[in-house]
Amino acid sequence: MTQQYRITLLPGDGIGPEILAVTVEVLKVIGKQFEIQFDFQEALIGGAAIDETGEPLPEETLKCCRSCDAVLLAAIGGYKWDDLPRHQRPETGLLGLRAGLGLFANLRPATIFPQLIDASTLKREVVEGVDIMVVRELTGGIYFGLPKGIFETETGERRGVNTMAYTESEIDRIAKVAFEIARKRRNKLCSVDKANVLDVSQLWRDRVTKIAQDYPDVELSHLYVDNAAMQLIRAPKQFDTIVTGNLFGDILSDEAAMLTGSIGMLPSASLGADGPGVFEPVHGSAPDIAGQDKANPLAQVLSAAMMLRYGLNQPQAANKIEESVSQVLELGYRTGDIMSARMQQVGCRQMGEMLLKV
Ligand code: NAI
Ligand code: MG
Repeated sequence: MTQQYRITLLPGDGIGPEILAVTVEVLKVIGKQFEIQFDFQEALIGGAAIDETGEPLPEETLKCCRSCDAVLLAAIGGYKWDDLPRHQRPETGLLGLRAGLGLFANLRPATIFPQLIDASTLKREVVEGVDIMVVRELTGGIYFGLPKGIFETETGERRGVNTMAYTESEIDRIAKVAFEIARKRRNKLCSVDKANVLDVSQLWRDRVTKIAQDYPDVELSHLYVDNAAMQLIRAPKQFDTIVTGNLFGDILSDEAAMLTGSIGMLPSASLGADGPGVFEPVHGSAPDIAGQDKANPLAQVLSAAMMLRYGLNQPQAANKIEESVSQVLELGYRTGDIMSARMQQVGCRQMGEMLLKV
């Protein structure tokens, strides 16, 4: 029986529309192969929405996202809107979307394609075969904890304050997401904290250890964040799935991603308790190359694969997309950002056509 899904497309700004157009073509072909029917609805976000409606996240867009099965977002932002006050800027649309959909789990894979191994700044033998998933808590921790602000002390000096806080339920839900993901991968989960110094981390460690009892098939380990940062560079292959809080996850997910060396290849997913997830490339709107058919669409295409795997539970269709990406690289096709000697340089559209052919 044909499965039917409603997908909200948010092309946004800069290279967004170019890379999303390629991805939609790929999804249509995948849909035919796997008996999946995608009903696409396009909506406005970011600068494109500001130009049309005056707001970076129109109510209609949020409504459209809430009523669908998954949101495929490209990128937002650009020089044009740089002078607007912070609450009216394109980025505010993205934050509003995450908050509006209650997305508390951010998934950031760092997977090395063997064909692109030379893009890494690390030695081949260190990064070959790296396949890590960083699960970052996205709506709690020090970015949101109270009290926060800049206060004046009794002596008239100013004091800046942020608070790292997690409740048990916040820890439990992100831990469960991470264990479930580890189960779909290689059954290894490393929880990263700073339990030797921080009370909030002690609670984090307690709860993750407790939740682990429900996942006897997943091997749990704990690392302090400073050691985790070192291990990621020293011996990244020891990691499968990593779970950590908002601040540590922000830093470690970027560090892990750069093991691969190519921004144009990195997808991400953000998930909530129920309702649709948002699937988007890690990179921004690349205004420097927008409208020139130079963008690498593969991060967006791989985000669609994450949508199929983690948002729609269609792992075979996800695998098929990832295999196509690998094959196109194997055949030597490269956009400018991942170009190297003796390879065939292609534009965004042609990269898309190659994906459909393999
Ligand atoms: P960026 O990721 O847009 O670009 C950084 C560099 O990487 C540029 O040289 C760009 O040409 C290149 N690049 C990025 N994606 C590429 C792709 N798919 N193919 C080929 N080359 C690619 O980051 P930048 O320049 O800091 O920000 C540009 C705009 O994007 C800003 O307005 C920023 O706020 C926004 N931004 C949006 C994000 C999002 O929508 N999630 C994330 C990061 C930035
Ligand atoms: Mg970051």
